[in-house]
Amino acid sequence: MISGKMAEGLTMQANREIYSGYFYLAMASYAQDIGLSGVANWFNGQMREELSHAGKLYGYLQQHGVRVMLLDIEKPPQDFSSVTDLFERTLEHEKKVTAMINDLVIMAAEEKDKATEIMLQWFVTEQVEEEASVAEILQKLNLFGEKGDALLMIDKELGQRTSAPDA
Ligand code: FEO
Repeated sequence: MISGKMAEGLTMQANREIYSGYFYLAMASYAQDIGLSGVANWFNGQMREELSHAGKLYGYLQQHGVRVMLLDIEKPPQDFSSVTDLFERTLEHEKKVTAMINDLVIMAAEEKDKATEIMLQWFVTEQVEEEASVAEILQKLNLFGEKGDALLMIDKELGQRTSAPDA
């Protein structure tokens, strides 16, 4: 049995996951517009992953007999200045998401809601992976810069991302 407070927290989180997808779609659109289809591919993959995260939460709530009420999706920022800017914002955003997930884990523990705590462990692990992969891309951008061959190489590498593995 999941409490009303926990259901509300998970519903909010699902909304934030959809917002994340929307945010990354805005980034994909920017990347496509400046001719970097590999970067756009990476952010489109990221968008699909975020929607699947929302789906996991909705599915869990429904399993517990909760009718999920959909919330407004906030408009994402759309003024970006460079590929590095995209990934810096992504890392900053993912850190906020990690903090939200951690708060939900604490809430589940306080409520002695073991099932939700276990379900959220998947998200805890996922956040570690997400932050690490974005930090690695940023490191390359900082190391090689955003010009000429280096940018083409990064664009090619990001273009190889296939869709969300476990998402
Ligand atoms: Fe669903 Fe990027 O966290």
